[in-house]
Amino acid sequence: MNKVKIVYATKTRHSKKIALALAKALNVQAEDVVSKPNLGTADLLFIVGGIYGGTSLPGLIEFAENLNKENIKKVVFITSSVKKTQGQDAVRKILEEKEISVVDEIHCQGSFLFMKFGHPNNIDIRETIEASMKILTL
Ligand SMILES: Cc1cc2nc3c(=O)[nH]c(=O)nc-3n(C[C@H](O)[C@H](O)[C@H](O)COP(=O)(O)O)c2cc1C
Repeated sequence: MNKVKIVYATKTRHSKKIALALAKALNVQAEDVVSKPNLGTADLLFIVGGIYGGTSLPGLIEFAENLNKENIKKVVFITSSVKKTQGQDAVRKILEEKEISVVDEIHCQGSFLFMKFGHPNNIDIRETIEASMKILTL
């Protein structure tokens, strides 16, 4: 795998924590979509984000709308939510329309108020990084 990049969108910093841990493991930068990063090209882009009221943050939706398949070859989602069944479907739909392939979605346990309090914890994050590294070796 050549060029790997990471972006995240966060409300309560879980995605930032996960993205920074992955960035450290891969020795690359993780960019916050709020800073409207210009990514250039990537063979694989990790998009790290939570779920709020069943969907992704508006800033991440806007970021996805500006991606194109000439620059971004493949995407992996890292999704933190309370219900691990909820994924980044809104972003996936946008990328599918742009013919950018989403090759995997890794779920990392999140929390909301007292629900799953304390997650993502260090074990959740370590498992997420391990799953991400595995994808890179495929
Ligand atoms: C306002 C709000 C709404 C949320 N709505 C959902 C939801 O609909 N489904 C879900 O599974 N988790 C929901 N969650 C939990 C978040 O997805 C989870 O905590 C995630 O780790 C947050 O990521 P972040 O800290 O990077 O923003 C919600 C959290 C907040 C703060």
